[in-house]
Amino acid sequence: MKLTFQARSVIEAEGDVLVVGGYAEEMRLSPAVAALDRALKGLLSEVLRSEKFEGKPEQLAYVHTAGRLPAKRVLVVGLGKRKELDSERVRRAAALALRRSRDLGARIVSTALLGEGLSPKLRAQALAEGALLGSYTFDRYKREKNKKAIEELRVVDRERRLDVHVRAGLRLGEIFAAATCFARDLVNEPANQVTPAYLARAATQIAKDGRLELKIYDRAECQKLGMGAYLGVAQGSLEPPKFIHLTYRPPGRARRRIAIVGKGITFDSGGLDLKPADGMLRMKDDMSGAAAVLAIMQALLTLGPPQEVHGIIAATENMPSGSAQRPGDIVRAMNGTTIEIGNTDAEGRLTLADALAYAVKEVRPQEIIDLATLTSAIVVALGNGCSGVMWNDKLLADRVLVAAGAAGERMWPLPLVDEYRELLKSDVADLNNVGPRGGGAITAGLFLKEFAGATPWVHLDIAGTAFSEKDLPLGPKGGTGVGVRTVLSYLMAFSEKDLPLGPKGGTGVGVRTVLSYLMVQTGRR
Ligand code: BES
Ligand code: ZN
Ligand code: ZN
Repeated sequence: MKLTFQARSVIEAEGDVLVVGGYAEEMRLSPAVAALDRALKGLLSEVLRSEKFEGKPEQLAYVHTAGRLPAKRVLVVGLGKRKELDSERVRRAAALALRRSRDLGARIVSTALLGEGLSPKLRAQALAEGALLGSYTFDRYKREKNKKAIEELRVVDRERRLDVHVRAGLRLGEIFAAATCFARDLVNEPANQVTPAYLARAATQIAKDGRLELKIYDRAECQKLGMGAYLGVAQGSLEPPKFIHLTYRPPGRARRRIAIVGKGITFDSGGLDLKPADGMLRMKDDMSGAAAVLAIMQALLTLGPPQEVHGIIAATENMPSGSAQRPGDIVRAMNGTTIEIGNTDAEGRLTLADALAYAVKEVRPQEIIDLATLTSAIVVALGNGCSGVMWNDKLLADRVLVAAGAAGERMWPLPLVDEYRELLKSDVADLNNVGPRGGGAITAGLFLKEFAGATPWVHLDIAGTAFSEKDLPLGPKGGTGVGVRTVLSYLMAFSEKDLPLGPKGGTGVGVRTVLSYLMVQTGRR
């Protein structure tokens, strides 16, 4: 889908469909809709009335223009109450309108810049994201393809001076959405395709296209580095493990060094603590964190933030076999910590233990963000619409949470209760890899915390949000690409201004600056 800007009014807009927005609880039509209605001799308002269009989110109505306007149809999409408007409303409205336009067979769609009150750049970005994410499909393996595709989305606005802002927003939205769809593809591909070697090949391609540095460690090299926790998980599988380290270096001197770590279990059978059939069915999605990392790294070259960013993935399968790790085994992670295997199905934290220890030791970043489909406990706690956030550094977590808000991805904090640390005690090793059932997302977070050490770190548990069993406003069932836009927003927001960073165990310095800065961005006053 080509995204363009045209300086002209909605009345002059061409295309198979022209999209405009309608607000809830407003008696009068917005000026744009009113102008269209006049041109259509009242037909539009009549249809809106008879279709009971109230401007609520998820509502839409359209009319054929029968030659009275250059556009073939006018489609009005609900944006909800004006005072509740944010970028997410615009994304969802755009997604809905574009899906409907596609179903109508439209090839060229014009749209007004939806969402008055937000900045033109944000409105354009949200439009692009909504349009591209909402029309995502995964039909590689189907005989019947979704042939219909919109070729061009034209943003129209009378004001020519908006040109640069709109184009910048469209471009940003396009990059964010493309990265998200890239992650979705990786998650939707089955585990017989996406093996650790496949992820390594994907990283190689990204490095080549984007001129990133890449190091892939095989089993023997990981052994030398002392990654006993990661290799313990890998030993049951016939697929060789691949430890992937991609580096993006900005032009000039880097402002900060950030490591993004993704859980990369290409299939989680549970290991010898085998999952029941129901629980195993979806476990190709256990590399969603890794998919997000690859997508983020790929987007960086076009985005060009001023930080040095490291993408780290300890990729492996978790399989049962004669060579698989046993419950009760003891392994030693790269930082020297010994771990008793209480349950082979708690494998994500074992692979992340070495990925985090590696990041701390070899990259020495100022901050680490990890993304992991880590626990079913997070699904119990937060359901499927919200990711869990845990940290050892509140300042960093606050900033990531604000970025999530700007990206429209729901995330919520869980406390890493100090006292729960003892639930991970082992009689024979430094740590056990599992705690009791209650607070499972938190004990998993506490386990990871041991390996982040003193480095500011934030952990996103995306087990509930990485894959959807039902269609969502911004995409069909399947991989969601969650986390990609949050992390990209984070990297971009904090690169446009050099904001104060505050010391570790921070006092909160900078939080208000950053919050105000981002609130201006999301357009809420
Ligand atoms: N990959 C799973 C977590 C998961 C569950 C992801 C549901 C997506 C949807 C993880 O490796 C796992 O199996 N965790 C166990 C840990 C338990 C054995 C302590 C869990 O959460 O049940
Ligand atoms: Zn598992
Ligand atoms: Zn897992």
